[in-house]
Amino acid sequence: MTAQRIHDTVAHDFRRVNELIIQRLASDVPLVEKIAQYIIESGGKRLRPLLVLLSSQAAGYRGDDHLKLAAVIEFLHTATLLHDDVVDTSDMRRGRRTANARWGNAPSVLVGDFLYARAFEMMVELQSLPVMNVLSHATAVIAEGEVMQLVNVRNPDLSEEQYMTVIHNKTAMLFEAASHTGALLAGADPEQEQALKDYGKHLGLAFQLVDDVLDYRGDADTMGKNVGDDLAEGKTTLPLIHAMAHGSEQESNLVRQAIRKGGLNDLSRVLTIVQSTGALDYTMDKAREQARSALACLDSLQDSTYCGALKLLTEVAVARIS
Ligand code: IPE
Ligand code: IPE
Ligand code: MG
Ligand code: MG
Repeated sequence: MTAQRIHDTVAHDFRRVNELIIQRLASDVPLVEKIAQYIIESGGKRLRPLLVLLSSQAAGYRGDDHLKLAAVIEFLHTATLLHDDVVDTSDMRRGRRTANARWGNAPSVLVGDFLYARAFEMMVELQSLPVMNVLSHATAVIAEGEVMQLVNVRNPDLSEEQYMTVIHNKTAMLFEAASHTGALLAGADPEQEQALKDYGKHLGLAFQLVDDVLDYRGDADTMGKNVGDDLAEGKTTLPLIHAMAHGSEQESNLVRQAIRKGGLNDLSRVLTIVQSTGALDYTMDKAREQARSALACLDSLQDSTYCGALKLLTEVAVARIS
């Protein structure tokens, strides 16, 4: 399997990152450690740390700090997930009940804060102002993306352009920061730095576009989270934007109303419209376009097994759907 081949490239480092992650979850407050461990140890694909390991080494890095940087990025990601599941009132994540479903909203938000703070402590240990600059900026942008999405909940008039801004901020930004800081750590030249940064952005956009397709076409068991969550929350994602623009007036109105109401009562009718208007194919085409752009960014990098793995990652991002 392609994903396995990518992991094999950095298998040893990857194990060390996981050890570091577990080690740095330590807290004197038992509930902090318990909740942090619960979500971290339930797995996840660990895509962003993988991106750090591959990007830094594709840019020629040969030290050990990439392990800490990878752990920092995964902590930031996990903090956003803890908060996101509260905001989205989600009850399933990584194949388990969400922390908010198990312990309630307050502990989830506070442990999310802890993970952010721990990430920043470790970031400081890296003693790189350029890395801190990128990561602190990314953290602010992600929060803005989540708020932008929140204020547009149940708003069927969100444009495709606004949608792209939301997914860039909430998701692509951390992918971008992962590959960018990997390049910075390696002391990449400006051209390489830009290439890896752009690569991460396009990969992240492809990834979220596919995620938004999976919300309509996926399978809860393989995804580890529920199907139909986006509609239930009244979230206007690209499949719905396309369906409203290309359905009949009646179909378009039905989707609009379903977004306004939220909930899952209209899911099967919305699904039919999403399918008949080709909205999922359209969204997948957009994802493939982003994956191609990501791939093109790698042209300027020197060939290596790490660079090869980054190339394969662009396939994996869009191949989550068969
Ligand atoms: C979930 O990200 C949040 C999105 C950006 C869609 P992942 O799908 O990478 O989550 P884990 O870490 O594998 O659980
Ligand atoms: C997650 O976005 C993005 C962040 C965590 C910042 P979503 O809300 O779309 O992702 P899932 O479906 O909960 O993983
Ligand atoms: Mg969510
Ligand atoms: Mg969300």
